[in-house]
Amino acid sequence: MLNKDFLWGAASAASQYEGGCYEDGRGLSTSDVLPLNKNRMNICRGDYDYTKIPSDALFPFREATDFFHHWKEDIAWMAEQGLKCYRFSISWTRIFPTGEETVPNEAGLAFYEKVIDELLKYQIEPVITLCHFDLPLFLQQKYGGWKDRRIVDFFVTYCREIFHRFKGKVKYYITFNEINMIHHMPFVGAGVVFTEKDRREQLLYQSAHHQLIASAKATRAAHEIDSDIQIGCMFAAGKIYSRTCSPQDVWYSYTRERENMLFTDVQVRGCYPAYIKAKFKKDQIHLVMEDGDEELLRENPVDYISISYYSTRCVSADETMEHTAGNAFDSVKNPYLTASEWGWEIDPLGFRTTLNDLYDRYQKPIFVVENGLGAADTVDEDGKIHDGYRVEYLKEHIRAMEEAVEEDGVEVIGYTAWSFADMPAASTGQMKKRYGFLYIDKDDQNQGTLKRTPKDSFYWYKQVIENNGL
Ligand code: BG6
Repeated sequence: MLNKDFLWGAASAASQYEGGCYEDGRGLSTSDVLPLNKNRMNICRGDYDYTKIPSDALFPFREATDFFHHWKEDIAWMAEQGLKCYRFSISWTRIFPTGEETVPNEAGLAFYEKVIDELLKYQIEPVITLCHFDLPLFLQQKYGGWKDRRIVDFFVTYCREIFHRFKGKVKYYITFNEINMIHHMPFVGAGVVFTEKDRREQLLYQSAHHQLIASAKATRAAHEIDSDIQIGCMFAAGKIYSRTCSPQDVWYSYTRERENMLFTDVQVRGCYPAYIKAKFKKDQIHLVMEDGDEELLRENPVDYISISYYSTRCVSADETMEHTAGNAFDSVKNPYLTASEWGWEIDPLGFRTTLNDLYDRYQKPIFVVENGLGAADTVDEDGKIHDGYRVEYLKEHIRAMEEAVEEDGVEVIGYTAWSFADMPAASTGQMKKRYGFLYIDKDDQNQGTLKRTPKDSFYWYKQVIENNGL
């Protein structure tokens, strides 16, 4: 049986859900310049200059699914579903439109205050991500994103403002969404655009170092401002399998796993591990550190680890193996698994393995803040959305999580399904790739009434919560 205080919830991200990108003085962010066209993935990877995209292209995140104008209605649906918590992100540019201001935009703070108060009215615990793939565009243009250390202080100023303003109302924070995504989608994760001269790994590890420093400074500030705050790191988790038992494959999967764990290793243990220092030396990566960086990391570990889990990955030292489609992660096909319509392999037992792995490694509480199925839902003749496949996916994954807790002793404090409502996908930008419990009438041509309709999975998850997972 799960703890009676287990945080059942659902999640979203400001960039994908909120819209209202020109309202109340909000500035543009890096996510607002991602188009829905063939160049999108190259931009996400930092390999294509987003300024070349014509201004009349479709930018799906600018309107998104308009939580900005539907917040009251949507929170009422959350209450109807019985959510115990709601994970969402704050749009940095709603608070500091360019990122460089010293005085915050009061209208932006007031918007989130309304949202938080409404959640609290229904006893829904807010869980806030401070940066979910949305760097102020101005900071990208002026400084080249996180490769420049000056961004650290801008981020910390923003975080401090949030911690002060919502003191006593918000207990759970997450600094960066999927911090390891910097390896796979550098523009999305860190606003990095490569030039031909750049040494990619050098630049990526330096940018990542700045985010790690920013995260540690934000953690320190959070604890100073409000000792009740629990602050977590967040990474895209998923056990990395070796495709065969050949020692070469096993070694390769081991090194890939470490690459993925690097960020949590630093954020939880408070220092760069030996394996990465050895790699830096071998590959001539020179991390520029300032005096005090090592102490800062050591003295400010996170309180909990949050993860997204969609799938495991499978790797092989053999470069001729067939790869899976449609994911930011490079993975070869796993013959034992089926996949979603977008080629993401489905592996509930892998979820249990992943949770166990993490707990063995860190012995810190784990908060599962994303897990769900992207599918092309349709409205049936009866006007309803019968997404039994999503119920199946979630049921199997929740069961695997419960087994990890009850049979293996892993400490999991909450689970927020991705996503509460439909919103354009982070990777493809498609509306068609839906994850929500709440269907939102909008299509890939940016057309639709934005009407909200609960899907079958909405009512099924309501029962899961009522019965504390049983
Ligand atoms: C995670 C992100 O990577 O996966 C979310 O934190 C994202 O923002 C989710 O939406 C699902 O990915 P996608 O690309 O299918 O939306």
